[in-house]
Amino acid sequence: MSARPIFVVAGIGNGTGTGAASARLFAKSGYRVALVARNAEHLSALAAEINSAGGEAAAFPVPDYAYQTVLGVFDTIGAHAWPSAGAGEVRAALWNASGGAFKRFFDVTEADLAGSVEGNVTAPFAFARQAITAFRRNALDARGRRGTLLFTGATASVRGNVTTSSFAAGKHALRALSQSLAKEFGQENIHVAHAIIDGGILTDRSVSYRPAEFKTNEDIRLNPDSIAQAYLYLTNQDRSSWTWELDLRPAHEKW
Ligand SMILES: NC(=O)c1ccc[n+]([C@@H]2O[C@H](COP(=O)([O-])OP(=O)(O)OC[C@H]3O[C@@H](n4cnc5c(N)ncnc54)[C@H](OP(=O)(O)O)[C@@H]3O)[C@@H](O)[C@H]2O)c1
Repeated sequence: MSARPIFVVAGIGNGTGTGAASARLFAKSGYRVALVARNAEHLSALAAEINSAGGEAAAFPVPDYAYQTVLGVFDTIGAHAWPSAGAGEVRAALWNASGGAFKRFFDVTEADLAGSVEGNVTAPFAFARQAITAFRRNALDARGRRGTLLFTGATASVRGNVTTSSFAAGKHALRALSQSLAKEFGQENIHVAHAIIDGGILTDRSVSYRPAEFKTNEDIRLNPDSIAQAYLYLTNQDRSSWTWELDLRPAHEKW
């Protein structure tokens, strides 16, 4: 029996959003899941939850999303001894982390800007470099691919707004990175896809600053589990019909 493929996901937050939902779904779908984020406690809790449900997950906490840190975590993942047999190949990866501040332009600090550049340009650049390097070692699978690299975008990936000067600049750049990679590495049967999440995602954090209706009204927010389903769909596409970009929004979103 061949080893389970590995799904690397970066950006897990407190375990209630898109990163964690994707980890759970990919684990259920037969992937080993390498969890990368800054909060070691939340990571361990999610890994324990997935493992106790019969999946296979391991936590790889990072102190920050600096370029060298992100490069290095892939080496750690590569050296990890998974409980089940075989080394396994990295076949899917998701950059879900981000950065930047929601502030009027003259309130944006140099640190806010640096956070957006790190979370949306520098770190995903390093992440892509390592994911693609790993995919290049893989033979073509039954659907003609070596691997799938996914990026979580936002409305700000395609539209700026009054408080998004730093965030939108970063998210636009992330989208441009993903498109460039899709064109360059499609030639090597590596699938790169970007998802514009055009609306609020239901997480513990987002309910804390949105109106009460956001928690209860399914028409006005995105369910992280549904986003994860879209990511699995992208990952399962065969090479004859690849999506580079999709956009997802709740039914009643004004857009
Ligand atoms: N939430 C929304 O309404 C929304 C809407 C559109 C697009 N997005 C995009 O979706 C991705 C995030 O997914 P998500 O919103 O579903 O959440 P998520 O998967 O839980 O990820 C949360 C992200 O925020 C970071 N973070 C920073 N401070 C945090 C805190 N105090 N508590 C929790 N997380 C914190 C996390 O970093 P660590 O994992 O390193 O801790 C993680 O990268 C981002 O790319 C974001 O731009 C979000």
